[in-house]
Amino acid sequence: MSTDVLLQTRNLGVRFGALQAVDDVSFEARRGAITAVIGPNGAGKSTLFNLISGSLRPLTGQVMLDGQDITGQPPQRLLAAGLARSFQITNLFFELPVRENLRLAAQFVEPGPWWRGLHHVRTSRSAMQRVDELIAQFELAADADELAGFLSHGQQRRLEIAMALASRPRLLLLDEPTQGMSHADTEDTAQLIRSLVQDGLSILIVEHDVDLVMKLSDHVVVMHQGAKLSQGHPDVVRADPAVQAAYFGQEVQHA
Ligand SMILES: Nc1ncnc2c1ncn2[C@@H]1O[C@H](COP(=O)(O)OP(=O)(O)O)[C@@H](O)[C@H]1O
Ligand SMILES: [Mg+2]
Repeated sequence: MSTDVLLQTRNLGVRFGALQAVDDVSFEARRGAITAVIGPNGAGKSTLFNLISGSLRPLTGQVMLDGQDITGQPPQRLLAAGLARSFQITNLFFELPVRENLRLAAQFVEPGPWWRGLHHVRTSRSAMQRVDELIAQFELAADADELAGFLSHGQQRRLEIAMALASRPRLLLLDEPTQGMSHADTEDTAQLIRSLVQDGLSILIVEHDVDLVMKLSDHVVVMHQGAKLSQGHPDVVRADPAVQAAYFGQEVQHA
């Protein structure tokens, strides 16, 4: 495995009953790059995401992070290994202020007993420092005391990404970060993702929005019916007749 490969899946697979939701998927995500997994609804993208991020245990295959086998490890262990994730489904505490959401995320990654995160008084200086950094980096200062539930959808997704970064991961996994966003919020998120990579983060993004992926990614993996259909530079993937038939063809029909 080349040293600029940060994440590698090898023959990854899982079944739900008779359905082979992920079928023998092997790909690599490079350090300092934006790698995208695309595919129509039901292609197996979120399931692949769950296999990599430790929410689901694969039936076959392996996940390697920086040459280390992380297959089937729980999310908390993966966080310590440098892999963080932000979900397709919103994961915020709506009834808590923005700052408190960030504080919980920062506290959660501190070593120590799990209940420490529940005690305000025990919040460590380093966690508070991380919260302040994230508020500045994500331009959340004006909303820091606002309840997360009152933020716009775009701001909520932004906050979720900030929370995922509380642990200073090397690799960030994002599942459809622009789902339900306005065009302007989608553009802002794309810009944010680019800036994070410029700051040294590597990103694996699972995304339904083809236009976004094609503009944003260094490397694209196309899934269809659980299997890898194609991969390569966005221009190469876009020109692949198999991809056009399976994905873009379907997009056109649905449009
Ligand atoms: N927990 C589950 N149990 C049974 N079937 C599932 C489960 N999760 C996903 N599936 C099925 O697996 C397939 C892939 O789903 P998913 O990974 O969510 O696709 P995508 O994210 O590409 O839309 C779909 O047919 C879906 O219905
Ligand atoms: Mg999905």
